[in-house]
Amino acid sequence: MLTTESITNELSREPTRDQLESNQRHEVNDQATSVFLVVMSGNKQLSISIQPLQYANVSTCARITAEAFSTDRHTIVKQLGGKPFDMFEVSRDGFLSTLHRKNYIYVKAVDDTGEIVGHAGWGFRGVDDIKIPWEGPSDKLPLSKLSNPDKEKGDETKTTAQETMNGDGIERLHALEDADMNQMMSELMPPGTSCMYFVGLTVAPPYKSQGIGSTLIKYGAAIADPLDIFTWVHASDQSWRAYAKFGFEVVKELVIDLDEYAPKIPGQNWAIFLEGTCEGVTEKNWGSYAIRYMKRMPPVAGA
Ligand SMILES: CC(C)(COP(=O)(O)OP(=O)(O)OC[C@H]1O[C@@H](n2cnc3c(N)ncnc32)[C@H](O)[C@@H]1OP(=O)(O)O)[C@@H](O)C(=O)NCCC(=O)NCCS
Repeated sequence: MLTTESITNELSREPTRDQLESNQRHEVNDQATSVFLVVMSGNKQLSISIQPLQYANVSTCARITAEAFSTDRHTIVKQLGGKPFDMFEVSRDGFLSTLHRKNYIYVKAVDDTGEIVGHAGWGFRGVDDIKIPWEGPSDKLPLSKLSNPDKEKGDETKTTAQETMNGDGIERLHALEDADMNQMMSELMPPGTSCMYFVGLTVAPPYKSQGIGSTLIKYGAAIADPLDIFTWVHASDQSWRAYAKFGFEVVKELVIDLDEYAPKIPGQNWAIFLEGTCEGVTEKNWGSYAIRYMKRMPPVAGA
């Protein structure tokens, strides 16, 4: 993801949470929306609409990202390093550095009470901005960096001095993943490539497994297909089946033995990390975690 320093330097005033929430509800009525019906378990239907993500939603969406990844083993292990790794900040900074750019599209999924239940984002490479159906945001960049409300309460996940000293494993893990990502980006997007790629896909934990992720993936396909470009994603272990359902195929897998890098064992809370493929996860072992690069080709004309 791009850094946000140049943007956050311009920031000076922070909207309150109430202002953010009230803006968020207002938008539901003000904006053109695409309505989708999502079938829930028990034949109950949840109606959601997909709308452009606004600056006023950044804090809420970053919080949803942090919550959705709070049980992801790979993220938890990365948080055990000496350097802070905060999903709220990673997500927020990603939004703030790219929301204004015409080669990024971000949307939120909103239920009929106005609550944001998920969000997704895509970047484009080698596509003229004029062809990209960019719609937002229509509000202004907040004048100050949005803070993490949870962090202000006190950070209970702080590592001890000993754990910090042992944090080198996490630096090795970052180095491994960065090198792998750079390699794959040059393979997937050599000069002259036109494509779209996911920069995020998150469903709020209480709304998972109800079809919202699928709706957002299909929404992305409806953007890419008219442009006749392929889409790729760096899929988390728990999400790859959702992509596979919509024509994404695994082109490469990076299987990480998390125990080789983690400075401490999962401990007594280990059972909350049992998402995705979780073979070998125990109180003493993080197990291995697969990151999959997946690619979906546009439909062949006339096929
Ligand atoms: C991955 C994620 C976006 C999927 O969204 P969702 O709304 O829960 O998914 P859907 O209900 O549309 O289900 C799509 C498919 O995902 C898979 N899936 C969904 N929930 C699952 C679960 N609890 N366990 C295993 N697979 C699951 C299934 O293959 C499902 O298809 P099926 O219903 O035909 O079996 C969502 O669970 C999420 O935000 N996870 C955490 C963040 C993350 O990993 N994001 C992806 C970044 S690349």
